[in-house]
Amino acid sequence: MTAVSPLELAGVAQERRLVTEVPGPRSRALLEAKRSVVADGVGTTLPVFVESAGGGVLVDVDGNHLLDLGSGIAVTTVGHAAPHVVERVRDQVGAFTHTCFMVTPYAGYVDVCVALAELTPGDHRKKSALFNSGAEAVENAVKIARVATGKDAVVVLDHAYHGRTNLTMAMTAKVMPYKQGFGPFAGEVHRVPTSYPLLDAPAGVDGSAAAARAIGRITTQVGAGNVACVVVEPIQGEGGFVVPAPGFLPAMAAWCREHDVLLVADEIQTGFARTGDWFACDHEGVVPDLVTTAKGMAGGLPLAAVTGRADVVDAVHAGGLGGTYGGNPVACAAALGAIEEMREHDLVGRARAVGTLVEGRLEALAEAHPVVVDVRGRGAMQAVELRRPDGEPDPVRTSAVAAACHARGVVVLTCGTWGNVLRLLPPLAMSDTLLHEALDVVADAFAATA
Ligand SMILES: Cc1ncc(COP(=O)(O)O)c(C=O)c1O
Repeated sequence: MTAVSPLELAGVAQERRLVTEVPGPRSRALLEAKRSVVADGVGTTLPVFVESAGGGVLVDVDGNHLLDLGSGIAVTTVGHAAPHVVERVRDQVGAFTHTCFMVTPYAGYVDVCVALAELTPGDHRKKSALFNSGAEAVENAVKIARVATGKDAVVVLDHAYHGRTNLTMAMTAKVMPYKQGFGPFAGEVHRVPTSYPLLDAPAGVDGSAAAARAIGRITTQVGAGNVACVVVEPIQGEGGFVVPAPGFLPAMAAWCREHDVLLVADEIQTGFARTGDWFACDHEGVVPDLVTTAKGMAGGLPLAAVTGRADVVDAVHAGGLGGTYGGNPVACAAALGAIEEMREHDLVGRARAVGTLVEGRLEALAEAHPVVVDVRGRGAMQAVELRRPDGEPDPVRTSAVAAACHARGVVVLTCGTWGNVLRLLPPLAMSDTLLHEALDVVADAFAATA
């Protein structure tokens, strides 16, 4: 009988193969080096140092092949080293790497904005500006909203995460580690309750009631006439993969329209096929005035965008938006390659199929382990929330499960205001076989930590 060799993507065998403990000796040596020269403030979830990656597999410096259920925090949606990304980036690097779009422009930037206008929710006329990071995109969405409305106040939600710059720290809910000691924060940021179906139970399924609660808070504590924008993650990312109850987002959008308030959808984690639609707002037909994107858009290169109604975006004077590297040509080439992958391989459909597979496996876990009190998400953005028998969050078990997955060669991430959510964000290039193997490991990790 001949041995069947595993499928390879980008030259990387699509298999889990552990040849040392995790992390192995070479990774441990590199971790020592990291400790001596890299700021302690830059944390590490799993200290295996990566040497190569392809599809759904990371290969570390010890030769271990790890299954990636994190996609570098929702970035490599198209898979590691996806062919169109690699090809376009190679060509672009050979042609030129920088001119500064604000000095001498290039077509790639415009092409990305064309794709954003086509793909983001709504068929109105749209314009975009490109940036380097998600936080920068959120900052610029707020700048645009303030100029366009002539108002100052920014409304954000409980459990929100929008980044680590000064304004986005103010917009982010969780203090540790994101905000602790870094204040004072930007002003005119107001937080209101969101829809968190698990915690809102038994009324949690009523999204319009949750919206009425949020709107009541805005009306009494901020004043609709002062609000430039309401910024929402259509599914909260770092905050715990919280999917708002149906009706919440449409009700918030309707209130914004009525009160000359702009709705900004932060789709940085949810956008670009991740949730089984191009954007998470699409699931409920919500059309925001402005959308922020980053992460999955560019297959791993740093690129972010604000896209929105042309009249709103164009309220800003020339020179008011931009930055030296914003919309870098290599990052734009990567985005065009990633979008090509998504279109060519129907990754929106693939995300839905991945969602069905993963959700089924997580539901089985919930039946077997009472610590799992909620299975939630959309498409290839799925999570479980862990609570103790007394109903309190269980971050200890969550970390233990994550650590057990890591030791067995599966990269998983945690999140949530209380650190009690295990989240799965597989690259969409991962096969069903590999996904099942990774989820077997997650199940083993639950059993081993019981
Ligand atoms: C919803 C959301 N907004 C903003 C950000 C910040 O993006 P970046 O880390 O690229 O600044 C993130 C990052 O996780 C995010 O998930």
